[in-house]
Amino acid sequence: MAKLRVAVLISSRGSNMQSLVRACAQEGFPAEITTVLSNNLEAGGLKFAAENAIPTRVIDHREFEAREEFEKQITQYLEELEIDLICLAGFMRLLTADFVNRWRDRILNIHPSLLPAFKGLHVHERAIESGTRFTGCTVHIVRPEMDNGPIIVQAAVPILGDDTPDSLATRILEQEHRIYPLALKLMAEGRIRIQGPIALIDGAEQPIRSLINPKLEEI
Ligand code: GAR
Repeated sequence: MAKLRVAVLISSRGSNMQSLVRACAQEGFPAEITTVLSNNLEAGGLKFAAENAIPTRVIDHREFEAREEFEKQITQYLEELEIDLICLAGFMRLLTADFVNRWRDRILNIHPSLLPAFKGLHVHERAIESGTRFTGCTVHIVRPEMDNGPIIVQAAVPILGDDTPDSLATRILEQEHRIYPLALKLMAEGRIRIQGPIALIDGAEQPIRSLINPKLEEI
């Protein structure tokens, strides 16, 4: 079966992109990273992609007056490459409803909280300050509202008494690197069925709605 053609969009470090690249390099993985695209020439992840022989492209949002023009360039490039799925991986630009609807059900995002809690920025700091005992990370299908859409996989991470935003971010990032490849695999296998705001997973032994701290062998 043909592999799902994936574009990963990054803005800086790109560690989640790296976890996707490594997963796709495994034998039999049903997706391939066709390109890594960044809005920022300085994004550290671009070097890793190039070293791994993945075509890279920079489309700098500052060169466009309107968001729509910036996104038009992105869509044109992704269409040329016949991309099936977009993975946002630390891509820090808001996308218009037009763009999201053009790629409906074909954009994934990873966010470092247990959505719908702590959307937006400074999430680790806000989670600690809130007094909640658990936070985590979420991979979801993108909808026009920021950090919103059907959840595919989540991992929960406890907040420890001496956590700083940095120490918490480090432990959450470890989980991000586990769940994003898993969500991509499920998408590439065609096992995600979207019913309104909910993503259901086909073929799971138990009738689960979404995965929490999942292990690959459980699905
Ligand atoms: C990750 O923690 C990701 O969840 C977050 O940015 C970081 C990017 O790191 N994304 C968001 O906050 C999106 N709302 P990376 O460049 O090393 O993957």
